[in-house]
Amino acid sequence: MNIIIVDNYEEMSKKAASIIMSCVVLKPNSVLGLATGSTPLGMYKELVKAYKRGDVDFSNVLSFNLDEYYGINKDNSQSYNYYMNENFFKHINIKKENTFIPSSKIEDLDQACKYYDQIINKHGGIDIQVLGIGQNGHIGFNEPDSKFVGETHLVNLKEDTINANARFFSSVDEVPKKAISMGIKSIMKAKKIVLLASGESKAHAIYSAVKGDITPEVPASILQLHPDVTVILDREAAMMLSK
Ligand code: PGA
Repeated sequence: MNIIIVDNYEEMSKKAASIIMSCVVLKPNSVLGLATGSTPLGMYKELVKAYKRGDVDFSNVLSFNLDEYYGINKDNSQSYNYYMNENFFKHINIKKENTFIPSSKIEDLDQACKYYDQIINKHGGIDIQVLGIGQNGHIGFNEPDSKFVGETHLVNLKEDTINANARFFSSVDEVPKKAISMGIKSIMKAKKIVLLASGESKAHAIYSAVKGDITPEVPASILQLHPDVTVILDREAAMMLSK
């Protein structure tokens, strides 16, 4: 793992954006694996700025998001479809038909999960996967478990994840209890992975992911087995690594 420690959130965001940009400049039809949550917001802002400066062209890029709440309407302002449009897609020249997010529909769940993995494979796999990390060590919505789940699947969200995400909803009761997530195999098949974390609340998860045992109880720990992972941390998120 290549671990980069920067001073603050802004530096983390700029560094992550520059890695994504170099991937797209070198391969204009890059397949990006994208994440939601607070952590990558600054990275998306930097990428939008770079696009507006004319430094990067997304017209041939494809994107696959890690996850989506189950049963949520795409137009709901809490859906990850909405998040991606508002924070990234509508500001750049990516083609809407080239952006993929796991289906939030309740019907045909198994089919939709299989289709998601098939379509990633059909496009040659993910070139670069962006990840945040949950305080419980989750990546995507792969929650701590007794086993790693490989493929795209339905997840029962853990209570700590529901509580952490309640900040985006008017009450904790409104947070969906289930989500569709790309599985660990789908993530590990990405050619390159960039894991971002900012703030003290992520320090323990980062320590366990980077220095702890490889265990499904800390899903991010599997990344120790990937040949090309860059971890970009601000000082707070990295604070336990020197101990
Ligand atoms: P956050 O979420 O970026 O909102 O902290 C990360 C995650 O839960 O994976």
